[in-house]
Amino acid sequence: MSLKEQIVAEKLPRHIAVIMDGNGRWAKQKGKLRVFGHKSGVASVRETVEACAELGVENLTLYAFSTENWNRPKFEIDALMELLVITINKEIKTLKKNDIRLLAIGNLGALPKRCNSELQSAIEKTKTHKRMNLILALSYSSRWEITQAMKNIAEEIQRKTLKAEDITEELISSYLTTSQIPDPELLIRTSGEHRISNFMLWQMAYAELYFTPKLWPDFRKEDLYAAILDFQQRERRFGKISEQIKA
Ligand code: IPE
Ligand code: IPE
Ligand code: MG
Repeated sequence: MSLKEQIVAEKLPRHIAVIMDGNGRWAKQKGKLRVFGHKSGVASVRETVEACAELGVENLTLYAFSTENWNRPKFEIDALMELLVITINKEIKTLKKNDIRLLAIGNLGALPKRCNSELQSAIEKTKTHKRMNLILALSYSSRWEITQAMKNIAEEIQRKTLKAEDITEELISSYLTTSQIPDPELLIRTSGEHRISNFMLWQMAYAELYFTPKLWPDFRKEDLYAAILDFQQRERRFGKISEQIKA
């Protein structure tokens, strides 16, 4: 049986999040500029989106640019922003054809104007699509997001539209940029790094973490299937004991 055939449809993660890492090292290995690695990573994005949609995954979040990535050399940032605009324009047809809704989380106001407006227009054009949500995390970091949420909650308390005793886990979740999306059940990080890099810290509380040494531009459908199969073999106990889960 192929890897894809071994996947149990009823046990698919409802939300897969991916830290797409290793573009720079991939390019360096080939004696090319880092930007070449980013460009080559677009094919992996396409494969991952397509594979998730085919399998029936409801939500896929791709960490494309972190708050901390603003500290990279200007040349690389400019190239990444340009690539984002080009990719959105190129892929919008595919999103339409496959009934995929584009969403974005992060400090989108920090993106270059043209980048943000292309993004908003693609979000608008796909807003009725139902098959899968493709969420791009752009200028995103979890601490930024949690800080924003705290500010908004504090403001409501000041205005007396909220009381301290109203603050619950659900309320906090509803103030995050992911309020409409279930928490990720599977996090994949490529490139062999074993860290979260400020990604969805709150939402990741019970996610299964999967690390692969593959560099992002080498990531293909089969790699996604392998990650999902690994996920499906795990026992998610949520604090309970094994016997309770099996009962
Ligand atoms: C991930 O690849 C893409 C972004 C963070 C934008 P990197 O650019 O981090 O590649 P490495 O980790 O340096 O190899
Ligand atoms: C994390 O990758 C951010 C994205 C994939 C967008 P980085 O390459 O920026 O993370 P660190 O710096 O290695 O932790
Ligand atoms: Mg990296």
